Amino acid sequence: MKHVLSLFDLTPDEILAVLEKSSELKAALETGERPTLLKGVNLAMLFQKQSLRTRVSFEAGMVQLGGSAMYLGADVGWGKRESVKDFSEVLSQYVDFIAVRAKKHQDVVDLAQFATCPVINALTDYSHPCQALADVLTIQEVHSDVNGKHLVYVGDANNVARSLSIISLKLGMKISIVCPETYQFTDEEIHEIQSGCEVDGGIVQTSDISEGVATADAIYTDVWASMGQESEQAAREKAFAEYQVNERLMASAPGSAIFLHCLPARRGQEVTDGVMDGPQSYVVQQAANRMHAQKGLLVWLHEQS
Ligand code: CP
Ligand code: NVA
Repeated sequence: MKHVLSLFDLTPDEILAVLEKSSELKAALETGERPTLLKGVNLAMLFQKQSLRTRVSFEAGMVQLGGSAMYLGADVGWGKRESVKDFSEVLSQYVDFIAVRAKKHQDVVDLAQFATCPVINALTDYSHPCQALADVLTIQEVHSDVNGKHLVYVGDANNVARSLSIISLKLGMKISIVCPETYQFTDEEIHEIQSGCEVDGGIVQTSDISEGVATADAIYTDVWASMGQESEQAAREKAFAEYQVNERLMASAPGSAIFLHCLPARRGQEVTDGVMDGPQSYVVQQAANRMHAQKGLLVWLHEQS
């Protein structure tokens, strides 16, 4: 049994197998087929933070696969009514998978330690592996292959940036993280990512927004202040004012470069309307791919058990 708490939990071959399964299921759905590969399978979705894409795509995906999903909010009392051990062992008796969105990554690690079914990270402050799977699926669809492609991420070194970095190193993509120095990964964090992917280098960090854009295959951004960082909003708006993905920046990238955003976006801050709605934007396809990637992951994990 395998948990997916970050993309360190999947080998490059396993990531490719999940992506292949995701593409197959997406192609099947497009021809009207809904293979019931998870008939009778139940997913618990334990959420401590808001969500549109993750929550709905997991639930819709499970229904399409012949299974079901149940949303569990604060009322189940995770971390409050009983020990994490009791909570996790009991929840695992009822369901086949647990997808968790939590404020603190360590809480998901603790939950997984006692879970007897796979736990999937549906976003923590540390990582967002399902997002990165969908992102790479999108890059693969547009550019045919991801190996050797250059992803330029304009934004702080957050959960999304970490998952993108891990998947990039694992699949042979080049990744640049562009943001003010104080918001970049520390040397220890870079070391953790690179050693976890068993590579010596591969992540370029720069505060120069023009660096790397000329060779970008994809330009990606995220909100300047993530969920839980609301008190830093004003300071971050100031620090990131020069790091907006706008038409000028996109014009300095190759015409074939695509624009990606995990969403939700704060239009007018990290990205302009012109870029979000422009010809290089793949954000809707990317959001749709959350469902296909998660279906692929769930089916692949089920096959392993
Ligand atoms: N990208 C993403 O995870 O969106 P939600 O917060 O709406 O789930
Ligand atoms: N970095 C953002 C991603 C939202 C999908 C956050 O954690 O809020």
